[in-house]
Amino acid sequence: PRVAVVFGGRSSEHAISCITAGSVLRAIDREAYDVVPVGIATDGRWVLEADDPERLALGGSGELPAVDGERAAIVLSPDREHTDLVVSEPSEPPRTLGEVDVVFPLLHGPWGEDGTLQGMLEMAGVRYVGSGVLASAVSMDKAYMKVVLAAAGLPVLPSVTVTRHDWERDQLGCQARAEQIGYPLFVKPARGGSSIGISKAHDASELAGCLEEAFRHDPKALLETFADGAREVECGVLQSLDGPPETSVPAEIRIGGDHEFYDFEAKYLPEQHTELDVPADLPEEVAKELRTLAARAFEAVGCEGLARVDFFVMPDGSLVVNELNTMPGFTPTSMFPLMWEATGLDYPALVDRLVKLALA
Ligand code: DAL
Ligand code: MG
Repeated sequence: PRVAVVFGGRSSEHAISCITAGSVLRAIDREAYDVVPVGIATDGRWVLEADDPERLALGGSGELPAVDGERAAIVLSPDREHTDLVVSEPSEPPRTLGEVDVVFPLLHGPWGEDGTLQGMLEMAGVRYVGSGVLASAVSMDKAYMKVVLAAAGLPVLPSVTVTRHDWERDQLGCQARAEQIGYPLFVKPARGGSSIGISKAHDASELAGCLEEAFRHDPKALLETFADGAREVECGVLQSLDGPPETSVPAEIRIGGDHEFYDFEAKYLPEQHTELDVPADLPEEVAKELRTLAARAFEAVGCEGLARVDFFVMPDGSLVVNELNTMPGFTPTSMFPLMWEATGLDYPALVDRLVKLALA
């Protein structure tokens, strides 16, 4: 089968997507699959990429890779039989790259992980890895994600939504809503990822600055309770061909250095003293309960293919679902592949399973 690996994209997680793609390109079975790497530049242009995983790696001092939008544009061209990738370089007539059997949308954040690309692929009649339009859109928007999880009886932290419009119109009202949550609180762009734009307001005087930071990424922000003393534990979920979703062993993130939370640098940059405990050191019954809740969250949102469900383990041992990621990071230091490896599915097998699920 022919697999178009699509990565980069318009979101602030562009570079992470490139690193993810580099790892997948390195691991995918070349005997089983014909791979076409397709980059999306930050301006939204689709380009045919060289099949060069090394170019997509994180630099030794943390330089971030990016798609170069200058080369050529790619479009999907559906006809009655199949969908072709067509490449159109500025000075040349369009030429076809041939049929695509499945797209692996390795995109994080808006315009890729949020149902927009998924909708385009549905329109073009192309199969793709991962969740469909609704589950992707719901999971991308932290406010709606909580509504759906809570409606399914899953535990979530209290939060309120503040839009840029709310803030401009009624700052006192927004401050009162923040008081309902209580300080310190987290301010998050509703539709973001990799902790970009997230900050902690320690008291009311910091709220405006934190909102400003979140609004740089999204006109909608979430004010969320700070789970004091909670441990951050994640769990991988994979759809199975004919049965309930499967879950990985849970793993814990322990943040070191000067990081107050699992921010962008702690997530990706070298030497940040972030420790990943795979599997997490949890009492057996807590781990079991966490896996059950992860599968329930996956089903509540209607996910397909894969998801990583992130939890807080509260000091009393109770569990709270923090969020779902429908295209979790796949970089070499990412939790999702590490958790599956510890569960008995190594990186190449994981990639293979995801493509097979999409083709099934
Ligand atoms: N949004 C990042 C890529 C993650 O959830 O892993
Ligand atoms: Mg996320």
